Amino acid sequence: MNFVKVDSYEKLSRMGADIIAAQIILKPNCVLGLATGSSPLGIYANLIEDNKNGKIDFSNVTSINLDEYLGLTGDNDQSYRYFMDHNLFNHVNIKKENTFVPNAVANDIEKECKEYDQRILDKGGIDIQLLGIGLDGHIGFNEPDTCFTKETHTVTLDESTIVANARFFEKEEDVPRQAVTLGMGGIMQAKKVLLIASGKEKEEIVEKAFFGPITPEVPASILQLHPDVTVIFSK
Ligand code: F6R
Repeated sequence: MNFVKVDSYEKLSRMGADIIAAQIILKPNCVLGLATGSSPLGIYANLIEDNKNGKIDFSNVTSINLDEYLGLTGDNDQSYRYFMDHNLFNHVNIKKENTFVPNAVANDIEKECKEYDQRILDKGGIDIQLLGIGLDGHIGFNEPDTCFTKETHTVTLDESTIVANARFFEKEEDVPRQAVTLGMGGIMQAKKVLLIASGKEKEEIVEKAFFGPITPEVPASILQLHPDVTVIFSK
């Protein structure tokens, strides 16, 4: 594991964007595994800039997002599809048909989950997976549990995740209670993993996840078994 500490969110964001930009330069038709939340916003802003400056070209890139709130359509401004469109996809030359977010309004969610995993395999796997980390150690929406779930699946969000995500909603009651998430198999199959965390409140969980025991009670701890992980942390 490559653990990098930087002294500002701006540096974290530039470094994270450089790693993703390098991936796109090295393999223009790469598959990016992407995340939502506040942590990647700086990376996305830098990638938009890099694309505008002609440093990187998204025209052959495919993206696969980690998760989506159950029951939200892409035009709902709280959905992760909406987040991705507005914070990245609408501002770079990626082809919309090459961007994938779980369809959390599918009639048959189980089938959608299976197809999501199959799509990743069909695309040759994720080249680099960008991850944030929840205060309870979740990655994607894989919450603390007694076992690791391998496939894409539906989850019920933990109370702490609902409270943490309430900042994006008018009131806490509005936060959807369930989501569809890539499983640990999908995340662990990525060729490279880039996890970013910023803020003093994340320090303890980052310490537990990367320097504590590997346990499904701290879902991100499974990344200690991944052969190519970079963690960038800023206070
Ligand atoms: C988002 C996701 C979540 C977030 C995590 C941290 O797609 O999968 O695991 O990465 O909740 O969120 P922030 O970055 O808002 O602290």
